[in-house]
Amino acid sequence: QAPIRIALLGAGTVGSQTARLIVEQREDLSQRIGRDIELVGVACLDPDEVTVPWIDRSLLTTDTAGLCTRADIVIELIGGLEPARTFVLRAIESGACVVTANKALLAKHGPEIYRAAEKRGVDIYFEAAVGGAIPIVRPLRESLVGDSVTSMLGIVNGTTNYILDEMTTKGLDFDVALKDAQDKGYAEADPTGDIEGHDAANKAAIMATLGFHTPVSIDDVTVEGITAITADDIAAATAEHKVVKLLAVVENGEEGVSARVYPALIDENHPLASVHGSFNAVFVHAEAADDLMFYGRGAGGAPTASAVVGDVVTEARHIAQGCVGPSIPLYRSLRKAPLDSS
Ligand code: HSE
Repeated sequence: QAPIRIALLGAGTVGSQTARLIVEQREDLSQRIGRDIELVGVACLDPDEVTVPWIDRSLLTTDTAGLCTRADIVIELIGGLEPARTFVLRAIESGACVVTANKALLAKHGPEIYRAAEKRGVDIYFEAAVGGAIPIVRPLRESLVGDSVTSMLGIVNGTTNYILDEMTTKGLDFDVALKDAQDKGYAEADPTGDIEGHDAANKAAIMATLGFHTPVSIDDVTVEGITAITADDIAAATAEHKVVKLLAVVENGEEGVSARVYPALIDENHPLASVHGSFNAVFVHAEAADDLMFYGRGAGGAPTASAVVGDVVTEARHIAQGCVGPSIPLYRSLRKAPLDSS
């Protein structure tokens, strides 16, 4: 039987680590899948900039659209809205399953993409889009689908958690801590989206969509970032035995669905106060399950690649078994405009 063909779009921080896991573990992964897999191409803007030794140079291509049509699984790690949306839809149209870590794309165009995948009968998995290595997407989409999720409260941006933590524990300046987070590969290419709260808002929209079975877009999320937080704010919080954390709060209550991201003051004994560095954590409350907590590395090349490759294996197993994974049920519209944070 021919190997399952895997195409990788993007060879940046997460893309190169994803390629490493696939290439170095090919034999093991193939055994777990029950069929051989093969990385058939890596699309990038400039092949000369891809220097990691585990990506064979013959795999590099700038023909991203073409690569999308000659794979069974397309991994989209380009980021941003366009051309990522076009390539993802093209891959789906060609009958390929898609794995993506692209939170901005899903928070804006998720319903269009989920419906296209459902219509074409292919899988779309995106565990890495929220919380990096933390399994949170699949629990919301699958494990908790029989329950009623009422709220989620999370630290879902590693860069801002790292910055606030460094400012709190080491007294570092904002700029120094941001530079550190960029050097460690936590921040987006343009870190504005991290520090202004938009990256966390994208994740809040995805969590709300999955948890509440309703299309919640980035445009429904009220956002406030951490750029106005000063060393004095941090010191004042510390004096009151509190810490500042950028929180994503999504709720589905009597008032309808609300989704907010804002810097919150939380008690130093609160479990979220002990989430340090680039780690993320999400609390979920569901009617029957009660409280659940998910914790782990929310950013960085290798942790995010772990979630990406987990999705690849899941999809490859479905292909090997001739089945399709669950679709995203989106049947309820917002009962009320999201609450503002005032
Ligand atoms: N820039 C993101 C973060 C990467 O800092 O959490 C993971 O989505």
